[in-house]
Amino acid sequence: MQINIPELSIPQRQAWLQHAIAPRPICFASTIDKEGNVNLSPFSFFNLFSTNPPIVIFSPSRSGRDNHLKHTFLNVLEVPEVVINICDYDMVQQVSLSSCEYAKNIDEFIKAGFTKTKASIVQPPMVKEAKINLECKVIETKNLGDKGGAGQLIFAEVMYMHVNESILNDEGTMIDHHKIRHIARLGGDTYAVMNKQNLFTVPKPIKELGIGVDALPESIRNSHILTGNDLGMLANVQILPEINVAFYDEKLTNIIQYFSINPTEMEKELHLYAKTLLSQKKIDDAWQVLLAGENV
Ligand SMILES: Cc1cc2nc3c(=O)[nH]c(=O)nc-3n(C[C@H](O)[C@H](O)[C@H](O)COP(=O)(O)O)c2cc1C
Repeated sequence: MQINIPELSIPQRQAWLQHAIAPRPICFASTIDKEGNVNLSPFSFFNLFSTNPPIVIFSPSRSGRDNHLKHTFLNVLEVPEVVINICDYDMVQQVSLSSCEYAKNIDEFIKAGFTKTKASIVQPPMVKEAKINLECKVIETKNLGDKGGAGQLIFAEVMYMHVNESILNDEGTMIDHHKIRHIARLGGDTYAVMNKQNLFTVPKPIKELGIGVDALPESIRNSHILTGNDLGMLANVQILPEINVAFYDEKLTNIIQYFSINPTEMEKELHLYAKTLLSQKKIDDAWQVLLAGENV
């Protein structure tokens, strides 16, 4: 299927792009106007764009329905400060409730049932229930258009951070992703929660250059069994590994003996075994199994 984006209606455009660009973290923004009226609203057009200076950007778009500017955007034009509260699963239903289009003088802290706490250096209050709060100065805004759906970017410099100790690792040195169940928005009504079952790690590419998929032996590169993820792990070595004569693996020996009269089946079995080893992050062993097949 191919989609010519400019031909779509605004709601369709929004739906296709939001379903595709997912999951998106949620900025739960607390702002005030110059009279001191408080606003609290969620925005998933949000991310970290720079650490030096520390800049996040989020976008309360012009309404796709009637083109109005969101209160959050109007507020930061009056008082250029925001507290970005980071959302987790314990808050998701209240966060959703706070996105109702309440009138400008209505305080969504009260409507959604959140507790205010005083920020250290900015005027808008923080959400007590959020386990992370970022106090920010708004340094710039950028209007991406005048029609409904046009993003209104808010560039916010993070000045001060509050982290609830309950989400720190055992050493107390960093946020533990297993302890804060971050939420993210996908398309439509669908959200994701980051919990034990769906967290995984990918080791950073080696500091030296990985050999790359193009440098893998042809039989490995064109394997019908090894996937792109498998090739990515194998190609993240500095030099093409060589056979290690000291490597002994009973299963490898059995495969080579059993399939010695059928090289095609042997290659298949070796690739399947290497794939299993890769899934256990035993990359050196997987290489030895594959090299054994290359040299039979
Ligand atoms: C999880 C979530 C994410 C949202 N993300 C955005 C967004 O990125 N941009 C936007 O304009 N509206 C977004 N909305 C809708 C706004 O929260 C909603 O329009 C809100 O009423 C704006 O409030 P305000 O006018 O008080 O600033 C989102 C709503 C939810 C529930």
